[in-house]
Amino acid sequence: MFLHRMNVLAAQPRIRTPLHIAQRVTRGRLVMEGVGKTFPGTAVPVLKDITLTCEPGEFVVVVGPSGSGKSTLLNIAAGMTNMDSGTVTLDGKSTDTPGPDRAMVFQDHGLFPWLTAEQNIGFGLNMAGMAKSERLDRVEAALKMVHLTHTRTKLIHELSGGMRQRVAIARALVMDPAVLLMDEPFAALDAQTRTLLHEQLQELWCQSHKTILFVTHSVGEAVRLADRIIVLHAHPGRIRRVVDVNLPHPRQFDSYDISTLVTLVRKEIEDEVNRVNREMANDYWKPEDQSDQKSDVRGEGDGI
Ligand SMILES: Nc1ncnc2c1ncn2[C@@H]1O[C@H](COP(=O)(O)OP(=O)(O)OP(=O)(O)O)[C@@H](O)[C@H]1O
Ligand SMILES: [Mg+2]
Repeated sequence: MFLHRMNVLAAQPRIRTPLHIAQRVTRGRLVMEGVGKTFPGTAVPVLKDITLTCEPGEFVVVVGPSGSGKSTLLNIAAGMTNMDSGTVTLDGKSTDTPGPDRAMVFQDHGLFPWLTAEQNIGFGLNMAGMAKSERLDRVEAALKMVHLTHTRTKLIHELSGGMRQRVAIARALVMDPAVLLMDEPFAALDAQTRTLLHEQLQELWCQSHKTILFVTHSVGEAVRLADRIIVLHAHPGRIRRVVDVNLPHPRQFDSYDISTLVTLVRKEIEDEVNRVNREMANDYWKPEDQSDQKSDVRGEGDGI
């Protein structure tokens, strides 16, 4: 069995914020069942039989070696990449195509350089034809959430890297999606800015109760933010381990519990990287049965 569930520190009850208890979140249930994907021209599936449910308001973080299909999984959930098998639903509706119920934040902020911070944030609402007064209210609230009210009129090149990512997060939040899909959103930032954004994202998540599916290479980031960490196998991408993180939010990096978990998850990933390296050196992954053999071209993967 590949799937092991670890309820680490299970003795401690999960502590939710008072707001979390008061507002029962009912929106944002993302269900993936048996998701499989093979890109044309490769024999090794990028994803194989991924079954994962993100409960409303849950913060789920996916980690795994490079090329294990993390971004592909997010893109499938976003409706930007088709899957070959399985189903993905959000609140019971298929996510085959992109929709306003899902918003994505990438490592590259993708903001329009000719627009100000507030114009970038309001762009989607404008395109959706929202009345000006409501639009301004929502942009105002989003600016406040990411602590950027004072830089609203600045152009993108006038903002720091961290501010740009916060504008990108506000632009996603302002659409009021049920789920936020975040693909290494802080990967390009320096350590201090990253720490600051972890604090702000935790605060924002506690306020907004969005379901968040977040991809990162940083184990520390995963442990700090997640309710649950999904560790992927590579080649093909499958769920290797699920780690519940029963620690109250907001979390501090320097606590004993956090560093214990970081060591544990890091070990999982190192073992996986070593496993993949051994397989690549010896005998590459072989499909389990004939039906998996779509072509005799070998997938190269991304390396680790
Ligand atoms: N559009 C595509 N066409 C063909 N192959 C693709 C495509 N997108 C991704 N792949 C391949 O699928 C595999 C998984 O890619 P993916 O980007 O999902 O991995 P990842 O886990 O996000 O990696 P990283 O951690 O480096 O971002 C890689 O081998 C990649 O080359
Ligand atoms: Mg990726």
